[in-house]
Amino acid sequence: VIQIYICVGSSCHLKGSYQIVKDFERLIKKNKIEDKVEIVASFCLGCCTNGVSAKVGDEIIEGLNSSNIEEKFKEYVLERI
Ligand code: FES
Repeated sequence: VIQIYICVGSSCHLKGSYQIVKDFERLIKKNKIEDKVEIVASFCLGCCTNGVSAKVGDEIIEGLNSSNIEEKFKEYVLERI
């Protein structure tokens, strides 16, 4: 199971972590990979400058927002499955 850590630290929280969690959940369902990935809330990942941060494996994804999430999901999650 691949863990997707989504930062819910204060900065990311203000930039919309909750929406990002929702978006990830939607994409996971849409791709029918519920049994392959899991969403985990994370503390500050240390890169709070732009958008919401997340981490998949050792890779940090910076600057997530509702317009780039689909593309990032493909790149960081679907590519690993
Ligand atoms: S609050 Fe999210 S990376 Fe710092």
